Amino acid sequence: MQRAPSMLRPTAVLSATLLAWYDRHRRVLPWRARPGEAVDSYRVWLSEIMLQQTTVAAVGPYYERFLARWPTVDALARAELDDVLHAWQGLGYYARARNLHACAHVVVARGSFPDSEAGLRELPGIGAYTAAAIAAIAFGRRAAAVDGNAERVLARLHAVRTPLPAAKPRLREYAMALVPTDRAGDFAQALMDLGATICAPKQPRCGLCPWQTGCRAHAQGMAEKLPRRVAKPAKPRRHGVAFWAVNESGAVLLRRRPPKGLLGGMMEVPSTEWRAKPWDDHEATKAAPLKARWRRLPGTVAHGFTHFDLELVILAATAKGAAARDGVWVAPTRFKDHALPSVMKKVIAWARSAEAPA
Ligand code: ADE
Repeated sequence: MQRAPSMLRPTAVLSATLLAWYDRHRRVLPWRARPGEAVDSYRVWLSEIMLQQTTVAAVGPYYERFLARWPTVDALARAELDDVLHAWQGLGYYARARNLHACAHVVVARGSFPDSEAGLRELPGIGAYTAAAIAAIAFGRRAAAVDGNAERVLARLHAVRTPLPAAKPRLREYAMALVPTDRAGDFAQALMDLGATICAPKQPRCGLCPWQTGCRAHAQGMAEKLPRRVAKPAKPRRHGVAFWAVNESGAVLLRRRPPKGLLGGMMEVPSTEWRAKPWDDHEATKAAPLKARWRRLPGTVAHGFTHFDLELVILAATAKGAAARDGVWVAPTRFKDHALPSVMKKVIAWARSAEAPA
């Protein structure tokens, strides 16, 4: 591809323009130090882990609750994993909560957070993007924190037509060239704010953008068309059967999922393996947690995970003195004491509505 002779302004001017815009328009976010306020690496780390694959709006209340309950990394390391998982309930991607807890232990053992991108990268739950974001925001390191928002801004600024993900290395290079020596953390957050508030995926507000005059995509009238992406293959579908067992006192059988793997360590309504082939009811009852007369509830529960869509059939039974293989009987009023992922909340809501007297 032929590159036009650079119409772009020098990187130092672009960085300074963005920082000046940030000083006027920065978002007030709960984890963000106010101008002049000392940055707390624990807060930066906690927020960046929560913000992985999750929106700013969703994270806000969780962040505040975590910080009130575990104000330091020492406090978090002393917490029970189950309490952390429970407090994480509803944020999704629970491996993050397990890694958060593991990471707190490592940090307490070594005395502090590493202050370099490479050191941070070695901690549980910290990938390339998060290491760069923490290094820049908490420690002022020159690091390129390029998330989806930043990719969009940079692809437009440089009119990169190569589709994502192939364009990623180039976008990182463009980002790195822009990171100033001073205020690297503010620069990272400014890029995030620009992507979130101005350089939106649809209908970017180019008239308000501090980089408008340097933006090649804008000059070519194609800002909204970038970045390009290779079409993702459709998500596979998996099928499972959940067993809704209610005992004589109205308690429901729940059990803990294995510690490793999807939703590891969280509670579930006992279910079969989640697999490509649909289950027939007879086959599924062989995997039931107890012997009972299982009957199928109408409809199914659907839930989208990152890599597959799940469809669950629910078999319900009244357990009359039957011993369960494993699990605990929980009264519906106590469900809130347990770390239940969203998919299981859907199962519970569906089963209770199907069982409720009309
Ligand atoms: N997304 C990821 N990290 C963020 C941050 N620190 N501020 C706003 N949005 C973010």
